Amino acid sequence: MASIAVLFLFFIVIRAQGEGQTFITVECKTGNVGQFGQQSMLDCVVKTTQVVKDATILVVSWEKKDTEAIVLTFEKGKTVAQPRFRFAEPSWNEKNMNVSLLITNTTLEDIGEYKCVVMTDSGDSTNYTNLIVTAKYNKPMIHSNPEKITRDEDVTLTCSSEGGYPKGQLRWFDEHGQEWPESGPLTMEKTSNGLFKLTSRLSLLKSTIFSKYTCKVFNASGVKEDEAALEIPENPAGDHRGMTFESAAEEGDHLNTQHNDNEA
Ligand SMILES: *[C@@H]1O[C@H](CO)[C@@H](O)[C@H](O)[C@H]1NC(C)=O
Ligand SMILES: *[C@@H]1O[C@H](CO)[C@@H](O)[C@H](O)[C@H]1NC(C)=O
Ligand SMILES: *[C@@H]1O[C@H](CO)[C@@H](O)[C@H](O)[C@H]1NC(C)=O
Ligand SMILES: *[C@@H]1O[C@H](CO)[C@@H](O)[C@H](O)[C@H]1NC(C)=O
Repeated sequence: MASIAVLFLFFIVIRAQGEGQTFITVECKTGNVGQFGQQSMLDCVVKTTQVVKDATILVVSWEKKDTEAIVLTFEKGKTVAQPRFRFAEPSWNEKNMNVSLLITNTTLEDIGEYKCVVMTDSGDSTNYTNLIVTAKYNKPMIHSNPEKITRDEDVTLTCSSEGGYPKGQLRWFDEHGQEWPESGPLTMEKTSNGLFKLTSRLSLLKSTIFSKYTCKVFNASGVKEDEAALEIPENPAGDHRGMTFESAAEEGDHLNTQHNDNEA
């Protein structure tokens, strides 16, 4: 009895696999990249052979591999999905071969491999696809210690940039574009939403302080995302003692803030 049941099961499995490989395949785009907080798409379509003219989808299942969470299913004409997940096609129906998954408000937990199972009246197919999530680092901020740079004492500049993912890099340059190695290792902290905050320090000797220092933030692929600059006046004597902060966003918009501490 039991062996007959097992045999029967085998028959079903083999038949299903045979049909899947012969008549339909789920084809997924590789290298799906999503932006943190934005919409991401896992792009998969069901391809049918010429033998199958008019397939109808019976079941779709999207599963996150690491947590084994079913994030979306379509079965018996009904779609059930977790809050941030839906079909990418706005009014998807069982005749639509584009079974792409749309994730809204993408988080770092969405990173990973997904399994997409499709069953049709002409066969079944399963495929896997991956999601990578990135986040752009914010404009860096430079602080100096002591706050007032007098050239009478050594100074430490601190640059930090947050809101990025994965790990990026901070680099220091003087006004001639000469790079200065950071003083000590780059520190990287995880903020509450899982994104990184990078902090780098640059120690300056009072005798060799240049007139401008720029801190640039680079993403994990080594592409510059933003920068900030700190200007130090050449002769900070008397009333003219002060600093100018200048920041330039990637888009080319300039934002200048003058901080002068002249006596009134
Ligand atoms: C999965 O998708 C890839 C990319 O579209 C495709 O090359 C591959 O044949 C698919 N695998 C299966 C088992 O359908
Ligand atoms: C599937 O549908 C989405 C949303 O309409 C679209 O952006 C994507 O390009 C489609 N995929 C394919 C392979 O046609
Ligand atoms: C996106 O998710 C974050 C937390 O992960 C939440 O604070 C925020 O309100 C969400 N935004 C939208 C538009 O749902
Ligand atoms: C780095 O930035 C470039 C340009 O914006 C982008 O194409 C690339 O995907 C980014 N890489 C990472 C890991 O964020």
